[in-house]
Amino acid sequence: MFPLRTLALGALLLPLAAYANDPYSYAQPDEVRVSHLDLKLRVDFPHRQLDGQATLTLDWKDPKATSLVLDTRDLNIASVEAVDAQGKTAALQYTLASRDKQLGSKMVIQTPQRPHEVRIVYTTSPDASGLQWLPPAQTADKKQPFMFSQSESIHARSWVPLQDSPAIRFTYDAHVTAPQDARVAMSAPNDPKHALNGDFSFHQTHPIPSYLLAIAAGDLAVKETGPRSAVYAEPSVAAKAAHEFEDTEKMIDTAEKLYGPYRWGRYDILVLPPSFPYGGMENPNMTFATPTVLVGDKSLVSLVAHELAHSWSGNLVTAASWRDIWLNEGVTTYVQGRITEVLYGKRQADEEALLDIHTLQKEVGTMPANTQRLAPKPGGVDADDSLSDVAYNKGSWFLRTLEQRFGRDTFDNYLKGYFNHFAFQSITTEQMLDYLKPNLIDKYPGKMSWDEVKDWVYGTGIPKDAPIPDSPRFDAIDKERSAFLAGTLTADKLDAKGWNTQEWMYFLDRLPDVPSLDKMQAIDAAWHLTGTPNAEIGMRWYVHAIAAGDKAVWPAAAEHMTRIGRLYLTMPVYVALSKTPEGLAFAEQVYAKAKDGYHPLTQQAVQALFAKAKTSKH
Ligand code: BES
Ligand code: ZN
Repeated sequence: MFPLRTLALGALLLPLAAYANDPYSYAQPDEVRVSHLDLKLRVDFPHRQLDGQATLTLDWKDPKATSLVLDTRDLNIASVEAVDAQGKTAALQYTLASRDKQLGSKMVIQTPQRPHEVRIVYTTSPDASGLQWLPPAQTADKKQPFMFSQSESIHARSWVPLQDSPAIRFTYDAHVTAPQDARVAMSAPNDPKHALNGDFSFHQTHPIPSYLLAIAAGDLAVKETGPRSAVYAEPSVAAKAAHEFEDTEKMIDTAEKLYGPYRWGRYDILVLPPSFPYGGMENPNMTFATPTVLVGDKSLVSLVAHELAHSWSGNLVTAASWRDIWLNEGVTTYVQGRITEVLYGKRQADEEALLDIHTLQKEVGTMPANTQRLAPKPGGVDADDSLSDVAYNKGSWFLRTLEQRFGRDTFDNYLKGYFNHFAFQSITTEQMLDYLKPNLIDKYPGKMSWDEVKDWVYGTGIPKDAPIPDSPRFDAIDKERSAFLAGTLTADKLDAKGWNTQEWMYFLDRLPDVPSLDKMQAIDAAWHLTGTPNAEIGMRWYVHAIAAGDKAVWPAAAEHMTRIGRLYLTMPVYVALSKTPEGLAFAEQVYAKAKDGYHPLTQQAVQALFAKAKTSKH
């Protein structure tokens, strides 16, 4: 599978000397830290830009510091000034370094007086890497334009000048103006009853890292799904979304029972247009979600369990650097499984875990050694080597192993204590291990050795005795697939009528990389996968059918690729097509038409793929 869940991150791995300071940020947190952000922004759809000002409250750590270094990317800076306690301003000198492809432009502001606040007046670029601007034609309802941000990993700097590192946390206030008919939402408590008056204010009173800054504006209806949860979506999508996500309140209750109170107040979900480049993004108070999970049968709603789980793992206890990202994604994937098990049963949770296990098993051996580690060693990896699914799938597998060894009650208690202990802090893998040793490993001797822990965290591959859940249904599918491939079972005799989404995913995932054409045609004749509205099934189907040389699926594949900008669902189809010169030419045609509807990240990923396909000979 194309390793896309962490593509954005993988693409920016650089050869690193040390991880002591965040290598993806120019900030100097030992000298000064931003403790609060005050934003005043106007959403300007015609110019595809945000304009306004950011006022940073500063906590000076070094009494000799003379400058404030910020991260920016493609911002137009109008002025920079110091603000004193009385609100009096004084202009400050600054320089903006030339743009680094990965990190953007380092901004150095001369602050010999170490002011309490610094104010920057600026506008964003229409091509800001962290924003997408959609004209009405590219929305579901085609009436109003739409815009949204995606700040993780290091894109907040393209719409706010700040210290863009997960180790630095700040509270924020924002005052946002927008056209009268637009609703604005941010990663802070949102009022579901807010009037459409073009004037919105937000207060995030918990300190958050910059990658959790988020904004969206457009034609958004609100449908409540519980006393503290609602769905925000374009009017024509809202009812379907509210139905798909009707269990949200139960998910919050379940997580609270396991890990302690939900500390953020409201939990809302914003369903974005299909160009949203990820499945979900855990923006505090307002998860951003892809519409590709709205399949009508709730079979893909563990995405909500996942993003909600980040309210504990990630947003409350945050990975201090991108190298420690497994503390966000691995722990969250584990918690996601626990929520899924309570709401949808052990079979569902086990099937989802098994899909992750099989993906990782297939991938891990082919990856560079350092990227197989949960916590990679300093020294870095090549910029082209993606992190893939290690953070998610190996990370969650490690936690399931701990649960199995120490027992559910003990481990649940431990994890709850961990979230409370590190609440609202950014921590490294080593801090997590320093807490794990006395509070679990040494406290209950004989269950797991410290060497085993180190092997999980710093070792390559997957520890030999990693527990794998039983799944009689997946076993039965393995048998059917084998019989079908051996020619002893015809496609129409597959017992697939009752297969759920995950069972179809499993059947398709384990087909040969290049299946035979007649086998693929037989499956389609019996089960009509071409044109499926379920994009998880569709992606897997098109990849295999294209590899088999089944050109009849190309038009439907093109429709899938044009409609869906979610990297993980659309890129594998581009990859499959690019393997032949004719397929590559077709993919380029599809892209030419689809491009304007794609998020900057998706455009970048497709263009990089084409460049690579052209330099490597077919
Ligand atoms: N935080 C991630 C999304 C992300 C990770 C964005 C790294 C940019 C860089 C989010 O919580 C996530 O994991 N989303 C998954 C969904 C999921 C159910 C595994 C996705 O988008 O596919
Ligand atoms: Zn996640």
